Amino acid sequence: KRLLLINGPNLNMLGKREPDKYGRHTLQDVVRLVKDTAWEQGYEVEAYQSNHEGDLVDQIQRAEGGAAGIIINPAAYTHSSIAMRDAVSAISIPVIEIHISNVHSREEFRHHSMLAPVCAGQIVGFGIDGYRLATLGLIKKIEDEGR
Ligand code: DQA
Repeated sequence: KRLLLINGPNLNMLGKREPDKYGRHTLQDVVRLVKDTAWEQGYEVEAYQSNHEGDLVDQIQRAEGGAAGIIINPAAYTHSSIAMRDAVSAISIPVIEIHISNVHSREEFRHHSMLAPVCAGQIVGFGIDGYRLATLGLIKKIEDEGR
């Protein structure tokens, strides 16, 4: 049983990038947190990060067949990417969107998500602990749906 963790643009700079908003933990810490959380529930995790929209679309498409569900932080593409939304719509496995910061308390342009309407759920504003919550929520959905 496998989950896919996808992180979008600039999240490779986590820890160095705007620590007041995103904290001091690194992407490696995030991957470890998701892997440990999933492992305790009997799942393996494949982690992927890209700064390129098309690569992220490829990863979403590729998940179907291999993974039981996806945890995704689409980062800035959250607010703009019709291509990533269409990719999520095209697959049948559950996808959980996560944001480290509380996007709703920030600039207006961060309030809207292109992907949220086609995701199974969304976690926002809990720092990197949101990745743990998203993992547990995703596994619950997978098991409730009998996948
Ligand atoms: C983010 C929020 C986005 O608005 C921003 O572009 C990011 C990170 C978050 O995790 O809080 O890159 O997705």
